[in-house]
Amino acid sequence: MELQECIKTRRSIRKFTDEPIPRTLLEQAVALAAWAPSWKNTQISRYIAIEDPEMRKTICETYASFNARIIGGCKTLIAQTFVKGRSGFERDSSFSTDRDAGWQYYDCGIAAQTFCLAAHDLGLGTVIMGIFDRKGLESYLQIPEDQELMALIAVGYPAEEPTGPKRKDVETLLTYR
Ligand SMILES: Cc1cc2nc3c(=O)[nH]c(=O)nc-3n(C[C@H](O)[C@H](O)[C@H](O)COP(=O)(O)O)c2cc1C
Repeated sequence: MELQECIKTRRSIRKFTDEPIPRTLLEQAVALAAWAPSWKNTQISRYIAIEDPEMRKTICETYASFNARIIGGCKTLIAQTFVKGRSGFERDSSFSTDRDAGWQYYDCGIAAQTFCLAAHDLGLGTVIMGIFDRKGLESYLQIPEDQELMALIAVGYPAEEPTGPKRKDVETLLTYR
């Protein structure tokens, strides 16, 4: 798919078909997301693919009720985590800038969007989800101590074609000095 078309036609997909996602496709999307830029090429983003329906059921019911319908209906749920204390940090663990620990989140956002665009190009639908019980889910998923849970990304073959919500125009977004 041509890049501009891919950027414009990617939508958050919240309804999926029952068709499972081949692991090879998921692995291709993660391999493409690895090309996202990151702080000093630290590449902190990690992905846990939750295929087990029982685990997804528990996540819906206990840790992510706001997004239960989406998580219950997707075929694979990605838990995006990141390795703490690298992006935006010096070797002595001090912050590199006055953004403190914020660059970690910035890097995860770039990686997540790269993953979603790659998935779209491969014919998969995705939606990034930020509303869930982070601490509870970190414990349930046994996220290692040196990592933090960033976002959930539902993945599946789209069963809807939503029209994109309105975007701001360039005059609003861009100023010159
Ligand atoms: C950081 C972040 C968190 C989001 N959290 C949720 C969420 O919890 N549930 C949901 O349905 N959509 C969520 N979304 C999707 C947004 O609602 C969606 O991207 C936005 O409405 C624009 O629509 P589009 O992605 O189709 O262009 C989230 C998106 C981002 C980037």
